[in-house]
Amino acid sequence: MCILTACTPDARVDYQALVDIPQPDSFPERAPWSVNVHPMVGTVALGQKLFSDRSLSSDGTVSCGNCHRQEVAFSDAPEKRSTGVNGRTGGRNTPPVQNLAWMPSFMWDGGINHLEVMPIAPFVNEVEHNISLKEVVRSVRRSDYRRDFKRAFGDTSITAPRIIVALAHFMMTKVSSQSPIDSFYRRERLLSNAERTGRVLFNEQCGSCHSGALLSDFTYKSHPGSRVGSDVGRFLVSQVPSDSFQFKTPSLRNWKYTAPYGHAGQWATLEEVLQDWHTQGEYLTADEKASLLQFLSLFNDSEFITL
Ligand code: HEC
Ligand code: HEC
Repeated sequence: MCILTACTPDARVDYQALVDIPQPDSFPERAPWSVNVHPMVGTVALGQKLFSDRSLSSDGTVSCGNCHRQEVAFSDAPEKRSTGVNGRTGGRNTPPVQNLAWMPSFMWDGGINHLEVMPIAPFVNEVEHNISLKEVVRSVRRSDYRRDFKRAFGDTSITAPRIIVALAHFMMTKVSSQSPIDSFYRRERLLSNAERTGRVLFNEQCGSCHSGALLSDFTYKSHPGSRVGSDVGRFLVSQVPSDSFQFKTPSLRNWKYTAPYGHAGQWATLEEVLQDWHTQGEYLTADEKASLLQFLSLFNDSEFITL
């Protein structure tokens, strides 16, 4: 997970150098908030260290990386709901951290619309880190971080905005674009007959929301089966009655690693999602289902979870 050589201290490393966020031709344009955000070698390395620092929580057991683990695409599979401080569990399933630069808003209800403020939410959330920003800063000041801040920002001043920015920069570098479908988009691979059939079915039945190379237009919609408990989703943010029980359309990239699915982890498998889909009359034969799954399997990026 080292960015360039940032993990081995080396006087020759240029910590102010910009880290390239690749822009695959098949991807849409980056989200407007991201255009003026420029991760650097030093800020990304600092963000990586903060991401796995458990001292930044009220009971010293919870880091971002507890719930966002690389081997499952930075989600918390197979947990339905993740465990935070003092064994508390929240109401929602932990989404993967991937391709954030293309995402116009964050969380299942889109309640946050800029990555450079996003990490405040899990810190102060009483189920997750349950710690004030003041305490975060105090804890970072107590630990061995002075050199990391100097490299990242040019001086050793440790502040909340710098901590938040470094976390955002680290997360922005998590780009998943090396799956088999990306080889297809780059014209390095053809689709099998079943994959082609699956692609047509997917575009017909799913593509209006799960659109483009990221498999999402990031709008707020709902599936049969999206009504779980009292979580009204987008309504919490917009207060528009028709937004009740609408959730951000998730990218389906790396689904192989991130089950269970849905904002509440309400579907254990992709087959269960499709079963619920039947209830609104969109019937798929067993063969069609198999083709759809074969097509969707092309979006799993084994490099992303290991490199
Ligand atoms: C206890 C588990 C837990 C911890 C710890 C945690 N997260 Fe999360 N994370 C979640 C859950 C659950 C959501 C979805 C929340 C929602 O929709 O309301 C989420 C959402 C996110 C998202 C939005 C992804 C998207 O697709 O919208 C990002 C980015 C993120 N977390 C980063 C972080 C960072 C940075 C930290 C550490 C400061 C952190 N998380 C700590 C569980 C956790
Ligand atoms: C009307 C827009 C729309 C259509 C059409 C649609 N989806 Fe979704 N999809 C969503 C939304 C919104 C969610 C989140 C629902 C929730 O959390 O309750 C979702 C969630 C999912 C998930 C869970 C992903 C995860 O990471 O949690 C899967 C899998 C999925 N959809 C597959 C499909 C398939 C396959 C089709 C076609 C048969 C399809 N969807 C059609 C909007 C749509």
